Amino acid sequence: MNNQSYEQIISSIDTRKPAPENEPFRQYYFIERARRRLAEISERAGRPLTFNVVTFGCQMNARDSEKLRGILEEIGYRKVETEDADLVLYNTCTVRENANTRVYGRLGKLHSYKKKNPHMMIGLCGCMMQEDHVVTKLKESYRFVNLIFGTHNIYKAAELISEALDHPDRMIIDIRQSSDRMMEQLPVDRKYPFKSGVNIMYGCNNFCSYCIVPYVRGREKSREPIEIIQEIEGLVADGVREVMLLGQNVNSYGKTLENPVSFARLLEQVVQIDGLDRVRFMTSHPKDLSDELIEVMAKYPKICRHLHLPLQSGSTKILKDMNRRYTKESYLALVDRIRAAIPDISLTTDIIVGYPGETEDDFLETLDVVEKVRYDSAFTFIYSRRSGTPAASMEDQVPEDVVKDRFDRLLALVQKTGREQTSRFTGQDKDVLVEQVNEQDESLVTGRMDNNIVVHFPGDGSLIGKIVTVHLDECHGFYYMGHRIETV
Ligand code: 5AD
Ligand code: SF4
Repeated sequence: MNNQSYEQIISSIDTRKPAPENEPFRQYYFIERARRRLAEISERAGRPLTFNVVTFGCQMNARDSEKLRGILEEIGYRKVETEDADLVLYNTCTVRENANTRVYGRLGKLHSYKKKNPHMMIGLCGCMMQEDHVVTKLKESYRFVNLIFGTHNIYKAAELISEALDHPDRMIIDIRQSSDRMMEQLPVDRKYPFKSGVNIMYGCNNFCSYCIVPYVRGREKSREPIEIIQEIEGLVADGVREVMLLGQNVNSYGKTLENPVSFARLLEQVVQIDGLDRVRFMTSHPKDLSDELIEVMAKYPKICRHLHLPLQSGSTKILKDMNRRYTKESYLALVDRIRAAIPDISLTTDIIVGYPGETEDDFLETLDVVEKVRYDSAFTFIYSRRSGTPAASMEDQVPEDVVKDRFDRLLALVQKTGREQTSRFTGQDKDVLVEQVNEQDESLVTGRMDNNIVVHFPGDGSLIGKIVTVHLDECHGFYYMGHRIETV
């Protein structure tokens, strides 16, 4: 969004008039309205009011949180990192049961803060709120929560926060089952000035049988390429050098557009943007990863040498039960094609252990794929039974002790092969985008190579946001220690 035109719009809003119907103008109106209300409350309190948005879960949620922070800052809240703030908003995840448990656990602590602070408001949003049983439980046992909204109306956050400020004694609940609107053209508070996520699509149509995402995020919706390109151009003008294109399954991008465009063609347009140095994307479903995409990745060095390619299981039988629509063999063949075209690529993955019906032989197939592919790193998960998904009602759930034992064996293998694989760059010179001063040692800075591997090397804060060439001296498991050669 162009800042000047936004300022002009905001300054012309008259909050005594009814709210406009069209978005995003309606939200601009409520930002202004909430801003005035907050200023009154703040004056009475004799201090500025603070907020903290806490993110659970994936990159999509992280990006949504940046948008929520942008709105709250525009309303006039000051950002803090502690949870004894005047507004605490949990942006929740529900992909695994322990994510839900953690939220309930932390709500107890928030309640104790709220008892001491009459201005405090607690809000909950995100995927977990799309589950009926969660909202029922909150209504019954967590009455102190002020605001609950879901994934389909996050674009309405300003309106809902304005309502909550007007009615601090109510529990405001707004959950929708779908929406045509996306959360665009609203203020954003980026975590890093030099890199940003960019949503290219929302939702998922795959219905993997263990996964709750299609139920809580809804059907797949792609944004128009022109909107995406304009957003990235705006980000680049604002100092961004690296973007991560975000979608649950970026490889099916564009299929539902009026004029369908493939993900590979979108990428080709994105790499043409002047001033943009790196493009990443997340997540790729193996069933939809096209040869066209591999070709485009190989052709343009701006596209990062990293692919996150969730395996979930190495057993063709389990993959079939999971509704993943690829086999062990087709996955391995895909990896071969990728490596033949882009030999230095880093591959990472997600693996689930203990899916219902998984036998020892099925599990050995998973270990076999890990041995063969040699991932740089892998996220390993114990299967979590999500009510409402087909897998939750399957009878042959694997006993806990068996799952635990398999999980430990998988983790050991993933760590061993990950270490070996990551170390292959030792002694090379690589470009690193510097992200921050090292948290443990202030004489070092920390950044990432384009393959997403972390590098620490001597330097200071003036390097943050720059791409510099670093000699990789030593690999320590999943990261490198190096020293700087020159600035690019
Ligand atoms: N149990 C365990 N892991 C899951 N994931 C998704 N659903 C479940 C579940 N029910 C994992 C998948 C996915 C990642 C984001 O979370 O591996 O790729
Ligand atoms: Fe879930 Fe499968 Fe969609 Fe990924 S592709 S979000 S695992 S349903």
